Amino acid sequence: MIIAVDGPVAAGKGTLARALAAKLGFAYLDTGLLYRAVAALTLAAGQAPDDETATEAVARRLSPADLERDDLRQEAVGQAASKVAAQGGVRAALLDFQRRFAQEPPAGAKGAVLDGRDIGTVVCPDAEAKLFVTASPEVRAERRYRELLARGEETIYPRVLQDLKERDARDQARAVAPLKPADDAAVLDTSELDSDAALQAAMQILQARGLC
Ligand code: DC
Repeated sequence: MIIAVDGPVAAGKGTLARALAAKLGFAYLDTGLLYRAVAALTLAAGQAPDDETATEAVARRLSPADLERDDLRQEAVGQAASKVAAQGGVRAALLDFQRRFAQEPPAGAKGAVLDGRDIGTVVCPDAEAKLFVTASPEVRAERRYRELLARGEETIYPRVLQDLKERDARDQARAVAPLKPADDAAVLDTSELDSDAALQAAMQILQARGLC
């Protein structure tokens, strides 16, 4: 069984996807890390994230160990990842990795939860369950701001809100696999929900569809 969890940055989809995987005993893949790793490796090699020849070559060589880099959550890497993610060559190179994980989850797990932007629309259009997790830009920016402060990064709220809106616009407007709910996705707004309530709401959606 494949569960696709898509949505914009800081909507709570990662927390929800991880919790769903733990509850159901499924494998979990944060697909944003793939794009972040391509961006981080490109920057570390002194190349520009908009140099598509360089980024595609990096994407083709990507290994699971690259997903363990400790700089993947940095803001600069996130911004570069958003540029890299708009490139068709990079997306095509990462497609196989994601589909293999979904169809043959590691450690013999009986299902997989993948979170990202295009899991329900492009990577796994036949996923049994599709959730589109969202929240207002202000709530998401507030969450992101607290996360960055907790990590010791220096920033101010208006800057975080501005970056988030720019990243949303780029993710939604790109020609290849833009961020949007699949036609058959259930939309879950977490603006007023904490992580436990979001998990409960997601489980209710799965139960209503007879999936667990
Ligand atoms: O979820 P995140 O912030 O870690 O994702 C980093 C970037 O990668 C973000 O700009 C969106 C992009 N992304 C994507 O285009 N498709 C995915 N399946 C996952 C992430």
